[in-house]
Amino acid sequence: MSQTISATTTAVSAATSTVGSALHASPAIDAAIRAIRAEVELKQRELTGARPPRGELKETLDGWLKRATEVRGRGPLYPYLGSGAGHGPLVELVDGSVKWDLINGIGVHMFGHGDPELVEASIRGSLSDLVMHGNLQFNHEAIEFGELLVAEAARNSRMKHCFITNSGCMANESALKLCQQKTGGAPRIIAFADCFLGRSTTMSQIGDTAAYRQGIALNILVDYLPYYDPELGQRSIDMALWHLDQLIHRYPGEHCCLVTELVQGEGGFNTAPREFFTALFERAKEAGIPIWDDEVQTFGRTESMFCFERLGLGEYIDVVTVGKITQACACLYTADFNPKPGLLSGTFAASTSSLVTGLSILRRLQSGGYYGPDGRIARLFAAYKAHADAFVAKHPQWFPPVTNSLGRTTKTVVGGHGGMMRLTPFGGNKEKIGRLLNNLFEDGVIAFSCGHGPYHLRLLPPVGVMKPEHFDEVFAILEKSFARTA
Ligand SMILES: Cc1ncc(COP(=O)(O)O)c(C=O)c1O
Repeated sequence: MSQTISATTTAVSAATSTVGSALHASPAIDAAIRAIRAEVELKQRELTGARPPRGELKETLDGWLKRATEVRGRGPLYPYLGSGAGHGPLVELVDGSVKWDLINGIGVHMFGHGDPELVEASIRGSLSDLVMHGNLQFNHEAIEFGELLVAEAARNSRMKHCFITNSGCMANESALKLCQQKTGGAPRIIAFADCFLGRSTTMSQIGDTAAYRQGIALNILVDYLPYYDPELGQRSIDMALWHLDQLIHRYPGEHCCLVTELVQGEGGFNTAPREFFTALFERAKEAGIPIWDDEVQTFGRTESMFCFERLGLGEYIDVVTVGKITQACACLYTADFNPKPGLLSGTFAASTSSLVTGLSILRRLQSGGYYGPDGRIARLFAAYKAHADAFVAKHPQWFPPVTNSLGRTTKTVVGGHGGMMRLTPFGGNKEKIGRLLNNLFEDGVIAFSCGHGPYHLRLLPPVGVMKPEHFDEVFAILEKSFARTA
């Protein structure tokens, strides 16, 4: 017996050097994966557009939703349960309906549903001896994932290191720790009104949504700056600077960071120009306050892979966090912010499949023509905007002026940037937009809301597979749902 094993081992070693590399290069595995991929692609072809539920399957969906409510203790936001099949932007539910998924679990599935390359990457990841990578035990995938993110970030910033985490929130917890350690435990945080950073006890407190910190003991010291208001332009920059100066003056040396989303996600897809950030970052830096850029939602989906590149802000950033599209999440930081041993660790980093699919996504993003002012993402946004502008012009009664969070009236009802698209009907009324979302879901478009008043219709379409012409069908559905809601 032992002779057989050693003979086999020698043969493998001679051919490929390790059993692991032989597995990776196995023609038998390649053929099996090709067969699976072809079968998935064949089945998906049946999903070609939105379609209503099949009556006889309604009970199946209802049964599952009842179980989901029971086990979670709360019903889901939507009567959504996927069948496990999808085709690009289209997803099939267990009731047989097919819907345009324009929210993707809040921006996770950049290549939509059932993407063949990701199916393949996921299977390859699952062949690893490790289901989960961790801080004590990892294989080459975790190193390559970190290296790729750092290499991309370092083209236009001082990023040097990467710590992998299993959620955007944990990436943010890591970022905060780095900032605190770097500033000798400075207790205060500067954030922006309407920001969102995740749901740990700390991130819920920094995030500017009262409902998300209901009943939580408030033990984090946060100071808020107003975000950019396009209606006010330079005056908005001056106002934010004035607030920052006040904070620095009031609490000298007590801030461990200024944290920002470069396009606010949950807060309402609010954008700001470069000058807004440079003015604030310069002032913060003068006062020794580190800059932490939360790109958990923006990463991958604006006109550059990291949003700070598009805005030319890389030189200011000390720590940046990413997640969602990347499948595994991460906190990246400069050499200066490399912490002392013991500060960052954890049993789980990410599953091997998440890392392999994440790597596959990052490589496609690098080479797929997505970025730049004329890249696929910019063109998709332009197509969205053209459709949305025409829609607003055709139905002005659904789009009255909106009062923004600073109490100013605006007629701008189409907004966002890149793969973050928003529309503000019904004056941004929460209740009406909620009803609209339910009607849209029934009619075949899955969307969500953002903002804290005004509220907006939020789309995070799968930018990797969504084509400009898809908006024809999507807006036809929108028209039907809007009419039902109004
Ligand atoms: C800007 C931002 N930061 C952090 C998070 C938290 O990420 P996660 O839900 O993966 O913990 C989110 C999630 O929506 C986000 O949008």
